Amino acid sequence: MASRIERDPSADYRRLHAAYQQSLRYAEDVRRLYHQMQRAICQSLLGLANALEAKDSYTRGHSERVAALGRRVASALGLAPSLVDVVGQAGLLHDIGKIGVPEAILRKPGPLSPEEWHVMRAHPAIGAQIVAPFEFFEGAARAIRHHHERWDGSGYPDGLAREAIPLEARIVAVVDVFDALTSARSYRPALDRDAACAMLRQEAGHTLDETVVAALLGVIELDDR
Ligand SMILES: [Fe+2]
Repeated sequence: MASRIERDPSADYRRLHAAYQQSLRYAEDVRRLYHQMQRAICQSLLGLANALEAKDSYTRGHSERVAALGRRVASALGLAPSLVDVVGQAGLLHDIGKIGVPEAILRKPGPLSPEEWHVMRAHPAIGAQIVAPFEFFEGAARAIRHHHERWDGSGYPDGLAREAIPLEARIVAVVDVFDALTSARSYRPALDRDAACAMLRQEAGHTLDETVVAALLGVIELDDR
C-alpha cells in the first residue's frame, strides 16, 4: 500500500508567512527609493531655485520662507498631509519659471514695459512645465501654474477666479504676497508685519482668498503668543 505523504500545515503556513514578509520588505524598499528619488529631484530643483535667487539678493530666502509659512497655513486650513506637502513643494518652486526670464527684465530697477511684462507673466506656466515631467509633482505643477491667479479673476495665466483656482495655489499666492511685502525691494523698503497684515486684509475677498488670508493672520498671531 502506497504511503501517503502528510503535508505539514504549519510548514506551509511558515512558507506563506515568509513570502508575505519578503513582499512587505520589497514594498518598503520601493517606498524608500521612491521617497529618496523624490527628495533628490526636489533638491535639484531647489538648487535651480537657489541659483535663481542668487541672481537677485532681494529675493534670497523667499522661496524657502513661502514654503515654510505656506505649509503652516495649509495645516491651519485642515488640508491633508499630502496636500500640505504639495503646498511646501509649490512654495519652494513657485518662481522657478523665472529661469526662463532674461536677467535684464528680472533685475530691471524701473517699471517694466508692456513687452517685458508679457515675458515676466510667462513664468508661472514655464515653472509648471519644468516640474511637469515628474509625476509626483503633479499637484505642485498645478499650484505653480496658478500662483498669480487672483480671487477676482484679474490674475494670470488663465484668469481663473474664486474656487476655480486650486486651493494650494491660493495659499501660495497669499503667502507670496505677504513675504514680498515684508521683504525689502530695490524700489521700496520692507513693510513691518502689521502694515503687511493690514494690506492683506484690504485685499481679502478682492484679489486674495479671504479664508486663506484669515488662516495666515491666525498663524502669524500664534507666533506672538
Ligand atoms: Fe511668481
